[in-house]
Amino acid sequence: MPSKANIIVGLQWGDEGKGRIVDLYAADYDVVARFAGGDNAGHSIVVGDRELALRIVPSGVMHPHVELFVGGGTVVNLETLIGELNALAEIGIDTSRVKISDRAHIVFPHHVERDKAGEAARASAIGTTGRGIGPAYVDRVARTGVRFADLMHADESSFDTLRMTRDYAERVRPHIVDGFEYIHERLAQNKRVLLEGAQGTLLDVGYGTYPYVTSSHTIAGGACTGLGIGPGAIGRVIGVLKAYCTRVGGGPFPSELHDERGERLRRQGGEFGTVTGRPRRCGWLDAVAASYAVKLNGLTSAVITKLDVLSGLERIGIVTGYRLGGRAAHFGDAGAPGLEVEIEELPGWDEPIDACRRIADLPGAARNYVDRVRELLGVPIELVSVGRERSQMAH
Ligand code: GDP
Ligand code: IMO
Ligand code: MG
Repeated sequence: MPSKANIIVGLQWGDEGKGRIVDLYAADYDVVARFAGGDNAGHSIVVGDRELALRIVPSGVMHPHVELFVGGGTVVNLETLIGELNALAEIGIDTSRVKISDRAHIVFPHHVERDKAGEAARASAIGTTGRGIGPAYVDRVARTGVRFADLMHADESSFDTLRMTRDYAERVRPHIVDGFEYIHERLAQNKRVLLEGAQGTLLDVGYGTYPYVTSSHTIAGGACTGLGIGPGAIGRVIGVLKAYCTRVGGGPFPSELHDERGERLRRQGGEFGTVTGRPRRCGWLDAVAASYAVKLNGLTSAVITKLDVLSGLERIGIVTGYRLGGRAAHFGDAGAPGLEVEIEELPGWDEPIDACRRIADLPGAARNYVDRVRELLGVPIELVSVGRERSQMAH
């Protein structure tokens, strides 16, 4: 029997801590594969005093035994990729295990220019990362894109067409594989495969807060199209949920806090973009959005991250309902003018929790908060992270 691949996805607007969770889980896998997005992603991993901020390479890279795969649903900037491979090699990491699907698309400098021009021309900017992601996906759908397959089969005369230097092509060529054969071979060999989501559920191009979204399918369904595998090949779907909510860029954010409490979350949580350094907007956990994400992904369990950031708050809010014109509303109404939120307040706790390693050892109010989140989501909570370092995890 071929093995089934498990998926890790973000349940909010990105930066939930997917990278650090993938890094932790990867110890038990043979392959970690990215299925969507590009270098708009920034995934931070902290192991001891070593810190990595990954953009393209999957977050299993700190485990020497893990094979790393960048799937066909991604769009890849060669300069970022090569820079990342070089930086990893410099700290002694074997990068020959990083393989890129021939179906993945290449992001060129003109995509970056088009992204920036598009933002400037909009009445209300999306607040993209400016990495050319949208235009690269536009070219893919318009059938004018350039794939790694084109690079592999390019001869001297095609480099002009491919708008890249020969050096780049030579550098990445050893990493390019037939993406279909790669993943199916490993599933057939019963290898343990973990699929790493980028961005977050609410940034999905089809089901997020459109048009304030990214240009790919970030949800679990995107893993099938992004890797060329069927739904039957998927096993568990694990969602990463930050204990509060953040968003970078424009768009609806019903649980956003515009006061000192939001400032405090930003300061305590270090909520500044990994890619752009922009301050992230902060707010309470939104259970309406999270339940929507549970269903969209067919979630089987969740991991809560950054619970330590809430220590010291007297009361902690959770958005448990939306109302519009006096009636209950759905997540699809998140951007509607006049939307109101219902907030449930839970008691906070004072003690630092970053040294807790068991959920049972958390202060009563923190356990109570985790229990309430579990109840609202309706799925089991596997782990609760209480700090940035790999070991700061309560089981
Ligand atoms: P990703 O894009 O989902 O991988 O998340 P990012 O890496 O962009 O952002 C998450 C940030 O929170 C990173 O700086 C992590 O090191 C940090 N982080 C992750 N988990 C925890 C945690 O439990 N506590 C604290 N304080 N920081 C965390
Ligand atoms: P990770 O994987 C947070 C946001 C941008 C913007 C919108 C569109 O680290 O969670 P894009 O450049 O993709 O066209 O921007 O999506 N965005 C992210 N926000 N984390 C990310 O990735 C993001 N990737 C894109 O801020 O609002
Ligand atoms: Mg990030």
